[in-house]
Amino acid sequence: MYMTLTLLLVTFACWTAGSNLYVANGRSPRLALEKSLSWPPKDTQCQHMLKRIHNGARVTVQMPPNIEGHWVSTSCEVRPGPEFITRLYRFQHNHTFQAHQFYYADNHCTVPTYTLVIQGRVFMRQASWLILGGTEADYHIQRIQVVCHSASKAKELSRRLVQSCEETKSTSLEPNKIYELCSEDGSCNCSRDAIFSMPELQLLRVEKQYVNRNMEQPVEELFLGDIDTEPHRRMSYRPSSYQPPLQNIKSHEHNCVACRIIARSDEFHPPSLPPQLELTVHLHGQWVSQRCEVRPDAIFLTRHFFFYDKNNTWEGHYYHYSDPVCKHPTFSIFARGRYSHGVHSTRVMGGTEFVFKVTHMRVVPMDFGTTSLLNMFNGNECGAHGSWQIGMEQDVTQTNGCNALGIRLPHVEYELFRMEQDTHGRYLLYNGQRPSDGSSPTLPDKRATSYQTPLVQCSTNSQKSDLNPDQHTKQQQKLNNSCFPVYQSYGMENGVLVACHLLIMYFFG
Ligand SMILES: *[C@@H]1O[C@H](CO)[C@@H](O)[C@H](O)[C@H]1NC(C)=O
Ligand SMILES: *[C@@H]1O[C@H](CO)[C@@H](O)[C@H](O)[C@H]1NC(C)=O
Ligand SMILES: *[C@@H]1O[C@H](CO)[C@@H](O)[C@H](O)[C@H]1NC(C)=O
Ligand SMILES: *[C@@H]1O[C@H](CO)[C@@H](O)[C@H](O)[C@H]1NC(C)=O
Repeated sequence: MYMTLTLLLVTFACWTAGSNLYVANGRSPRLALEKSLSWPPKDTQCQHMLKRIHNGARVTVQMPPNIEGHWVSTSCEVRPGPEFITRLYRFQHNHTFQAHQFYYADNHCTVPTYTLVIQGRVFMRQASWLILGGTEADYHIQRIQVVCHSASKAKELSRRLVQSCEETKSTSLEPNKIYELCSEDGSCNCSRDAIFSMPELQLLRVEKQYVNRNMEQPVEELFLGDIDTEPHRRMSYRPSSYQPPLQNIKSHEHNCVACRIIARSDEFHPPSLPPQLELTVHLHGQWVSQRCEVRPDAIFLTRHFFFYDKNNTWEGHYYHYSDPVCKHPTFSIFARGRYSHGVHSTRVMGGTEFVFKVTHMRVVPMDFGTTSLLNMFNGNECGAHGSWQIGMEQDVTQTNGCNALGIRLPHVEYELFRMEQDTHGRYLLYNGQRPSDGSSPTLPDKRATSYQTPLVQCSTNSQKSDLNPDQHTKQQQKLNNSCFPVYQSYGMENGVLVACHLLIMYFFG
């Protein structure tokens, strides 16, 4: 979540050619680790949910992805700005696409303001080297049309277009009429970079989720590249993580109301989602990731948070992995601190602002690379010098954090939250998207205007009765015993190391 810390972690990520390490249901050499590893300690609801992600059996990843079909947003999405949007994208067999982007005046997407219809072609290129599990693609835009849904939006958009569009200097847009900004032959009335482009098509991933043990009809999800948090950099941005997934209309979750509404919309009948109650953000309790999350700069992780309302303290557990299905642990961080009372955001409708402080931190290296890295650093700048071992936890509060990981304590972050109920009635907690440039929101004006992948509430009780110190040590030993031999066998079985690659990871995102 937010933590902050520009955690500048330099780690050696080494991998081998021909290994099926990154296939979700692959039989990787580390499978042994999965079996022997009953982390976290006890089967509470929260830990059970985390474990399900780590077991990974319910998700398969298609490589290369087949994106043919009609795909829809599953809810009202918030983009940096903020912009409130729903999407209906169609990809055809002949590489052509038609993308409807519906824009709104409100954070529940009940009042449509304008719609963009973007047509073009998209071509898969290659598996992404940086964002493992993703596929890189090229795209060309051939035609862009716009329809405004209200007189006031038409006026506002006309003003915006005047600056970059030749023809609209004389004409002003009227509501419910379609205007061509770029025509089919590719010529544009507008400098298309000024307003519209779809860098999101440069990074793709398709997942099949086997929900409710339904092996016949998995839910298909399409992940497209993320949007730069800095609006003026948006057009030139190369995605390095993903937006919320779209679902295939043939296999969306059957209780997804928004999916159905969006699927039958067009530019003259934009989807208007059902109004919802604005939920007050109550952090109290425990929250966990619902999937293996991807952050910019190839960071894969799962999160588990504890919030104590009574004394406004929190604890976050960040489990980091080297692969996109969170099977191969690299290190874990436990951070603890205080948080402020929430204040309604005046900038982001539906958002609540908090200030978080990190005062305590513990680190557990979980693979050889991270352990060597921590041991390489001199001085008392990250725990006791040279003492790091795989699977062994150290408190780094006394050394003011960990220089090797780029974390200085105490650390402050300006956060944005919102809450929502999912289709099963469970509470979802969204916190601010991390700045795309890898920095941290350490100043109020760096506070996010959009959100990252939501956490789900897994307990309303934030007590950690299950984590007694004895058990914790036993778990650490188990990790210790399992990680190291597995690492070795991994290296040997796969033979030649093809790429050893120095990654700079900013995390706590
Ligand atoms: C591509 O396929 C779609 C739908 O099948 C069709 O409408 C369109 O004309 C085709 N475009 C090209 C360039 O072949
Ligand atoms: C420019 O806009 C005008 C008015 O909407 C339209 O008639 C024309 O076809 C457009 N030209 C191009 C190249 O898009
Ligand atoms: C805050 O409350 C929790 C739960 O009662 C407790 O475990 C924790 O130690 C308290 N923290 C502080 C700093 O008082
Ligand atoms: C981890 O393993 C090392 C030896 O490989 C051992 O010295 C250390 O005590 C172990 N740590 C735990 C917590 O068992």
